[in-house]
Amino acid sequence: MLSKIDVQKFNTLIEINTLINSNYEDVHILLTRILESATRLCEGEASSLLLMNKEGRELYFEIALGTKGSDVKRFTLKPGEGIAGWVAQHNKAIIVNDVANDKRHLREISRQIDYPAKTMLAVPMRIKDQCIGVIELINKKDGKNFSQDDLEWLEIFSNQAALAIINARSFEQARNELQFLQDRINTDQGYHTLIAKSPVILEKLDIIERVAKTDSSVLLLGESGVGKEIFAEQIHQKSQRSRKPFIRVNCAALPEGLLESELFGHVKGAFTNAISNRQGRFELADGGTIFLDEIGDLPLSLQAKLLRVIQERSFEKVGADTTITVNVRILAATNKDIEALIEQGEFRSDLYYRLNVLPIYIPPLRQRPEDIPELAAFFLKKFMRETKKQFEGFSNEAMEAMLSCSWPGNIRELENCVERACVISRNKWIQGEDLLLKNGPVISEPETGSRDLKNAINVFKAHFIRKILEENKWNQTEAARALDIQRTYLSRLIKELDINHPEE
Ligand SMILES: Nc1ncnc2c1ncn2[C@@H]1O[C@H](COP(=O)(O)OP(=O)(O)OP(=O)(O)O)[C@@H](O)[C@H]1O
Ligand SMILES: [Mg+2]
Repeated sequence: MLSKIDVQKFNTLIEINTLINSNYEDVHILLTRILESATRLCEGEASSLLLMNKEGRELYFEIALGTKGSDVKRFTLKPGEGIAGWVAQHNKAIIVNDVANDKRHLREISRQIDYPAKTMLAVPMRIKDQCIGVIELINKKDGKNFSQDDLEWLEIFSNQAALAIINARSFEQARNELQFLQDRINTDQGYHTLIAKSPVILEKLDIIERVAKTDSSVLLLGESGVGKEIFAEQIHQKSQRSRKPFIRVNCAALPEGLLESELFGHVKGAFTNAISNRQGRFELADGGTIFLDEIGDLPLSLQAKLLRVIQERSFEKVGADTTITVNVRILAATNKDIEALIEQGEFRSDLYYRLNVLPIYIPPLRQRPEDIPELAAFFLKKFMRETKKQFEGFSNEAMEAMLSCSWPGNIRELENCVERACVISRNKWIQGEDLLLKNGPVISEPETGSRDLKNAINVFKAHFIRKILEENKWNQTEAARALDIQRTYLSRLIKELDINHPEE
């Protein structure tokens, strides 16, 4: 014959089983329910559910119930430390009804939170016989002792908690695989996956969702490496043009003459090398979107032609008389201060006003640290696939180093940093030293001879490019890769900034 309390216990178990089967996602809520029921039915005054951290070196309090629950959460235990640590280390359940005289008890925590433990019951949570955490009950009500019967019940609850965790982990794994496949599809189509967690970026995505539906030009602004191109991709993908081409042009990558024919096409014989007719990027983008990257570098003569495309959607190929009309949405991006370029007479203000109908500023990474863990994990997965290496993740110390870095090169720099760590690390977890972070390059003030900003920037640029060229034995392809710019753009800069090989 079952006692009243046994019936209650069975009913609770059935209830919990139903929950485990229906709620895969919020494992924390589920674990809290399990711990609450176990505490109530085994008559504990307080209780905790501790989990082993990812490295397996520490137990932390995932849930702590009772009057001092929130105080205890700041502590962690090493395996072997305290009664819960003993249970984790020996993978064995115990009843301690004389805590005051038990050598394993860690008096420090009880003293600090001012909550003396008299009786305790602690059982391991196991997945495939391995201990992944501990459930402990503290002080049986009315000064009673915990019994063997309590221990057996608590073991049943602890098995259920482990089951909930297994489910949540498989769910997480399935979700990761789905994301992986989605990324693959994106990459195959030439698009990148955008990671967004910080409120400011989520807000930008919301704006993008709305502007995508229109045909207005959008100007993407922000420092180098913040993700302007990836946001341009999003605008196209979320627009009604998404099934039509998305054409990218880097306006800084080509000299003026070639850029004109690249954008607008040419007819056979238009210039010496024009051996056949060629379609320009605007024609290729017909019906879709064109993305003009580094728009600040567009030469003045082409600015006039672009203005006409924006106003009339028409242009002539280089060397042709006939006018071509296209239906293209224009997106542009720059990391330059266009208003300053206008003042210097290098950018047409009328073109700027046309492009600037919807400006979207993408903030630098240092202003949105919430994105760092997610981005780092995403890049780690990507480079694990590429390098065929396996890591568990980042150690806490590595994560802290990334969170406190100022990332002057933004997401591109973070991506490079994770790639490098993935290549060099021999650890199970990526460690702080694998990241080789210097917290931003130290740049000394260049000797310019004048206080003109543009001049100072050019002096710095020349100095920096020369240093990178030297590091790469003056191999321009390698240097361009290190600088993360196109080789053609590098050779243009070398000419413009008059950088000479020392032996020439
Ligand atoms: N939110 C993000 N999620 C995932 N990857 C990102 C994100 N933002 C940027 N990246 C990656 O970081 C790198 C730099 O991004 P992107 O090329 O879009 O920067 P940018 O702003 O155009 O820089 P630049 O002005 O130097 O051209 C790319 O490899 C891009 O895929
Ligand atoms: Mg870019």
